Amino acid sequence: MNKMLGIDPLKKIIFGITAFVLLFWQLNTGMANATELRESDRTVNLSESETVVLSDAQVAKGERLFYSTCSQCHNSGRTKGNPNVSLSSYDLEGADPRRDNILAMVDFLKNPTSYDSEVDLEQLHPNTTRADIWNIMRNYNEEDLQNVSGFVLVQANVRGDYWGGGKEIN
Ligand code: HEC
Repeated sequence: MNKMLGIDPLKKIIFGITAFVLLFWQLNTGMANATELRESDRTVNLSESETVVLSDAQVAKGERLFYSTCSQCHNSGRTKGNPNVSLSSYDLEGADPRRDNILAMVDFLKNPTSYDSEVDLEQLHPNTTRADIWNIMRNYNEEDLQNVSGFVLVQANVRGDYWGGGKEIN
């Protein structure tokens, strides 16, 4: 009568695991939906002439990297040590060359320079070129650099003036 009892134990285990995986998957997608951003929030400058729509997964990866390697100095987009050079779109755009796009920010994270690009900040700002002295950037690959830069630009879209704005309190 009861077919389950007739199934051998291995099949029961497999059935149990499948049910668990399905449930877990459902919970996860539910969570992703809850934090889903609008497409306009995920649309950022790729370069000075092109835009790109990031996926929720790319933003989520960028967020994890930001909180593990950047937020200690860039809490809420502000800049500890130099409040005039924040991560707000206004400040990023004002840099020479402008940094309010993914490729320019990736370039900064490889070879950081002062706001006017005159001074090399290799020894002062985390970067991947000198990962030997900047341990926290050691495991960054190209995709990570793009995701973390994308996250910064998405925050500027989502949080507006609160991102990098106001007084520096951290
Ligand atoms: C140890 C502190 C510190 C950490 C960690 C750090 N930064 Fe910075 N960041 C600074 C300082 C200080 C400046 C300002 C440099 C200057 O004087 O021009 C800055 C400047 C910047 C700028 C230029 C902003 C502009 O308006 O031109 C960008 C972009 C940036 N950081 C991104 C990041 C990202 C992304 C991370 C994480 C991968 C990160 N930073 C980690 C301290 C830090």
